Order: sequence, then C-alpha cells, then structure tokens
Amino acid sequence: MIFAANFKTNHTRISTMQYIMQLQEMLDTNPVNHQVMIFPPMSALLPSTEAVKVGTQNAWHTQNGAYTGEIGLEQLAEFDIDTILIGHSERRNIIGESQELLAQKFDYFAKNNFLIIYCIGEPIEVRESGEEAVAEYLWDQFDGIDINYNRLIVAYEPIWAIGTGRSATVDEINSTHNELRKRVKAPLLYGGSVNQNNIVDICKVSNVDGVLVGSASLDAKNFYEMMRLVN
Ligand code: 13P
Repeated sequence: MIFAANFKTNHTRISTMQYIMQLQEMLDTNPVNHQVMIFPPMSALLPSTEAVKVGTQNAWHTQNGAYTGEIGLEQLAEFDIDTILIGHSERRNIIGESQELLAQKFDYFAKNNFLIIYCIGEPIEVRESGEEAVAEYLWDQFDGIDINYNRLIVAYEPIWAIGTGRSATVDEINSTHNELRKRVKAPLLYGGSVNQNNIVDICKVSNVDGVLVGSASLDAKNFYEMMRLVN
C-alpha cells in the first residue's frame, strides 16, 4: 500500500525533522510493507530518507523566475524532491487553481519526470445527486491530464470527507474507485478522514492502493500505527 501524509499548513521545519527521524526509526525497528511519503509545508522541505519519501504540496511550473510566493524546480532540486501533489481541493477551492492551470502544472512536472499525486474529489451537492453525477464531475477533473503518465498516482478525496471526521463509506469508495479504474491504470489512493478506526476497512476495498492522510498523519506514531494495522 501507499501511505501518503499531507501535513497541509502544519508542522515546522524542526518538528518535520523530528517526525522523519521518529518515523524512520520505527520503520527501521519494525519495517512495514508499504511505500511511505510525506508532504510537509514548503518551509520544511527536506531530503528523503531511506524509508520516507518527501514531496512538495505545491510548486510553480517553472525552473525559477518572477513568481512571487512560489517555488520552482531549482528550489525543489536543492532537496532532491521529485514528488508533488497537484489538484488538491484546498488548492482548487481556497487558492482558486483552475483546471487549466492544474493541467499546465501537471504537464510541466510530468515532463520533468516527477512522481505526481493528482487529486480529485466532488463536493457534497454532487455526491447527493448520485453516482453518475459524481463520475461525470470526477472525469471533468481529468481535463488536460495525461492519465497514462507512468509516474502518476491518483488520489480520490471527496471534499465533504476532508477534515470532517466523516469518511466516505466503504461502498462509496468501492464504487468510485471501480469507476476510476475503468480508465485509470495508476495506483488509486483514498483520502478524507482516514484514521486508525477505518484504515483496515478502507484498505480492503478493491482498487484502493493506498491512502492520503491529513490530520491523522500529523503524529508520526499515529501514522505508523495505521501502517501496522494493514501490514
Ligand atoms: P483529513 O485526513 O484531515 O481529512 O485530510 C485529508 C486530505 O485532504 C489529505 O490530502
């Protein structure tokens, strides 16, 4: 399984260093059979360790240049970072990134051979309109995206399940991932209120190849315990 931790705007550089050391130590002592990635805030980017891959939550599609407040390839290369989240609903909805912009970012980072976790997910009103509406909404979020890119991972994160403590049900995850699997060959992650209580059931769902975890990943021990539960 893939276990990815999205810290969002949490943790500092020092606490991220401690987190990585703690996680690496637990993985050394008692290894798990999972691929582990963390996405700390930009100010806490660090090189990956043997067992913990570090990626960025965002970057601009440039080597360097005049993009105030952004970082590009040059800044990521300093930490050997080649992994990026693109399309998270918080960037789509709070920051206002359009599908067109996301497609440009995707194209740029794919050309630079990044491992891309591309995030999609529907709002509650679409979920309430039924599965067909959800499928249509999600496929639209692939506009301009090369779904056959060989370093792609797709994360399905229903917006109404993010940070709400209300995960999608196993049936909802199952039907949505089966729909995605019709066209997407890449690993499929589920994200949205994943925690120690639901991780086992979620990871049993067919076509779930891993999870993208927010709040429950912020404590290294808690995140590691989740990995142990499905090992
Ligand atoms: P929570 O696990 O806090 O619901 O966040 C999910 C998420 O957005 C991960 O990218």
